[in-house]
Amino acid sequence: MLDGSAPPPDNPPVSWLYKRFVRPNFFQRDPEETHNLVISQLAWAARRRWALGLAGCFLRGPRLPIELFGLTFPNPLGLAAGMDKGGSAIPAWAALGLGFSELGGVTRHGQPGNPQPRMFRVVEDEALINRMGFNNPGANTMAERLGDCRDSGAWPSHPVGVNLGKSKVTPLADAPADYLYSFRLLKNLADFFVVNVSSPNTPNLRQLQDKSALAEILGALQEVNDSHRPILVKVAPDLGFGALDQILELVEPHNLAGLVATNTTIARPAQTGIYAETGGLSGRPLAKRSTEVIRHLYQQSGGRVPLIGVGGIFDANDAWEKITAGASLLQIYSGLVYEGPQITRIILKGLTKRLAREGFTELSQAVGTEQ
Ligand SMILES: Cc1cc2nc3c(=O)[nH]c(=O)nc-3n(C[C@H](O)[C@H](O)[C@H](O)COP(=O)(O)O)c2cc1C
Repeated sequence: MLDGSAPPPDNPPVSWLYKRFVRPNFFQRDPEETHNLVISQLAWAARRRWALGLAGCFLRGPRLPIELFGLTFPNPLGLAAGMDKGGSAIPAWAALGLGFSELGGVTRHGQPGNPQPRMFRVVEDEALINRMGFNNPGANTMAERLGDCRDSGAWPSHPVGVNLGKSKVTPLADAPADYLYSFRLLKNLADFFVVNVSSPNTPNLRQLQDKSALAEILGALQEVNDSHRPILVKVAPDLGFGALDQILELVEPHNLAGLVATNTTIARPAQTGIYAETGGLSGRPLAKRSTEVIRHLYQQSGGRVPLIGVGGIFDANDAWEKITAGASLLQIYSGLVYEGPQITRIILKGLTKRLAREGFTELSQAVGTEQ
């Protein structure tokens, strides 16, 4: 080792290397610049089978398969929306050991997003604040990239979803047509879809979480959903339990496959310093509220609505909390930034051990068991 010290025995080498050498370098740069750098490196690797194979050797964890809404997931830990907004590195996420990926958010019209800077780290709290504003190349480009990936035989070995947002230029009243355009174009190119009405960074978007507005969007999508793709809705952690219950009431009539809980929060643990930046907060400070939302949705629906739990997952204990509160699948974003690419393997190993210790033979047996 360069400084003569060895990585601690319970801290696998790649994770130690990441925190000791890579992360300090990344964290000296602007967060968005680092993000773009990583995505371009992953896009490079995604075009080279040997690079993907090599990554897989170091980063793939134990298999922990789970079947949900007609899809088979090799493990329950997926990539959260916002990391690969343009579908630039589609084959890379499975090579990092993730059990599924959610690309996007993508909107009907390509758009630049909000002025920079718009992404901030709160390193001491392992959190991020972002007000990206759905910067993405648009649904047409996403369709091309998904199509190219399939045609070139590089399609990943895990389910791929697309997160659908509303274009900024589209008035709220025309939102159904905006979502519909993207869905029509992409519906045969991805395995599942998430309707994102919970980003805090598009003006008034979260009003679409209102029951009647959301019903209109979902009705429009399901009408053309002839290939029966699973459609989920992503909710904000800032909704009260009453508003969440209203969304639950849409699940059956609109044939929703499940809910994703949660998006980033506009709440803050403090109002000063970096926390005064507007936008959505993710990472550790979000963990507790996102688990509360999952627990409420699980209990209120009697465990009948599949939930994807996301918000502040950094280790196997965080993952276990969300699973036993009611999540069948999980996603990470901030955890990848702070823990590095080996986070998946570490969490999956921890989950496998925990399942055995609790006497479960399958992950699905642990879902919602804290009650
Ligand atoms: C920079 C950034 C961009 C994001 N973009 C999206 C997005 O486009 N669509 C979406 O539904 N969620 C988006 N999210 C939210 C994440 O998918 C996730 O719900 C949130 O970050 C909580 O997970 P975490 O604590 O593991 O980061 C974004 C998050 C970050 C940090």
